[in-house]
Amino acid sequence: MADSRKTLEELQKRKARALQGGGPERVERQHKAGKLTARERLEVLLDEGSFRELDMLVTHRITDFPLEKIPGDGVITGYGTIHGRKVYVFSQDFTVFGGSLSKAHAEKVCKIMDLALKAGVPVIGLNDSGGARIQEGVVSLGGYADIFLRNTLASGVIPQISAIMGPCAGGAVYSPAITDFIFMVRGTSYMYVTGPAVVKTVTQEEVTHDELGGAQVHAERSGVAHFLEENDVECLERIRELLTYLPPNNRSDPPVLPTDDPPDRREEALRELIPDDPAKPYDMREVIKLVVDEGSFLEVHRHYAPNILVGFARLGGKTVGIVANQPDVLAGVLDIDASLKAARFVRFCDCFNIPLVTFVDVPGFLPGTDQEWRGIIKHGAKLLYAYAEATVPKLTVITRKAYGGAYDVMSSKHIRGDFNFAWPTAEIAVMGPEGAVEIIYRKELAQADDPEALKAQFVREYRAKFANPYVAAEMGYVDDVIDPAETRPRLIEGLEMLASKRDQNPWKKHGNIPL
Ligand code: HXC
Repeated sequence: MADSRKTLEELQKRKARALQGGGPERVERQHKAGKLTARERLEVLLDEGSFRELDMLVTHRITDFPLEKIPGDGVITGYGTIHGRKVYVFSQDFTVFGGSLSKAHAEKVCKIMDLALKAGVPVIGLNDSGGARIQEGVVSLGGYADIFLRNTLASGVIPQISAIMGPCAGGAVYSPAITDFIFMVRGTSYMYVTGPAVVKTVTQEEVTHDELGGAQVHAERSGVAHFLEENDVECLERIRELLTYLPPNNRSDPPVLPTDDPPDRREEALRELIPDDPAKPYDMREVIKLVVDEGSFLEVHRHYAPNILVGFARLGGKTVGIVANQPDVLAGVLDIDASLKAARFVRFCDCFNIPLVTFVDVPGFLPGTDQEWRGIIKHGAKLLYAYAEATVPKLTVITRKAYGGAYDVMSSKHIRGDFNFAWPTAEIAVMGPEGAVEIIYRKELAQADDPEALKAQFVREYRAKFANPYVAAEMGYVDDVIDPAETRPRLIEGLEMLASKRDQNPWKKHGNIPL
């Protein structure tokens, strides 16, 4: 009896030490920096009381340095639920050796990744770490590689989500980089391969942490971050929201969320949305919001390549991935960044059985030396490849322009679009009327007394002949020209008809997407 009490005391002592983390001073420093602790973060992320910790008593095995053994070793791992659905989690504890990664720390992360992969459950990593545990040297590098391998093997099998909630530097960035979505927090998180000090030594360039790899930089410029959040709580709540759209693994369907929004809701406002002047912009976000359940659209990569929109929504309660040209920015042109953004999103949806709904208003690919020299050919090909190989249900609505190669790329019938609709305002043609007329009537325009007037006449004729949806409809390249007001009911009906879709690609080890 006495012995068992002693045993329990020892257990309680060890667990209490684990719960203290780096101690009150370091916790205070963490709070002062505007960050929650690793445990507080898990409380916000997971359903109340659902967290079950594993490996709480693991310690490092460093012998060359007199480094205190703190149970847990700088990372809290385990499982819990989000909206009642299972997830595996790890949360790095910056108060313990700066959240740095030792071999033992890496093993804990790998253990939950292995469990998640076997069970087909998403993994969420909350990263806040000074990188490889300096006192452990190369062994911790091996630990990182063990994680990278698992990230790669789990890719396309279970959703993997990374939140960067503090430093994430050096090779450590490559684990989040392989995962499906990266969240960053303004002002407190940063990611870079080499920090400002090394940058200064090598290039003499002076730059702050934030300028080099802060949340805004990665959300807007590099596109490394998919979500930019204002603080820890907002970040964790957004992850919870994202999870409501995702299936647990690649063999399951996404969750269905019952809605009061009627599936047969007509939306007359959609008839008025396209401006009379074909050169005038409008906000495609408005179209999306008027069509989807309760106007709710979770935008991914909102700040990056805003000339294309991607994100999750629901139609009739079912998750769909939306891809939409945005005429409000650069006329919705496809450039390198837009192609990369959309291609990655399309591939995510295809991995995880999420039907794709594409809204098209695209004048073509962006011309110019900058784009050509940086490889718009290979990058644009990524989007084409992603759509062409996708076997999930694919529905397309052409609202206005669908010109040239961009017509083919944007989920056209020819690359296995299942239901392709056009609004009466659609213009499906090899190129825009202005450009086309200048090429095919070059001689006539050069010889004309009033070239401007003649050009305007040719443009009118071209527009009447080609820049409409009916040539494509006559060929069966669009399945129907629809009243814009009926877009929602037609999409929901289409999704219903495709719910049992079966399609597959020829057997291969894997394709060779133009990287
Ligand atoms: C061991 C570390 C550590 C590390 C921080 N600490 N980083 N301990 N290994 N990598 C410890 C500090 O000693 C300190 O301990 C506590 O964490 C908090 O660190 P501070 O420096 O006081 O915090 P702050 O001022 O906020 O600065 C954070 C920081 C800085 C910018 C991350 O600590 C830093 O530059 N760390 C080193 C980063 C680095 O070079 N890591 C290796 C990268 S290479 P006490 O006891 O004082 O609280 C890498 C390779 C990965 O990671 C390869 C993968 C293939």
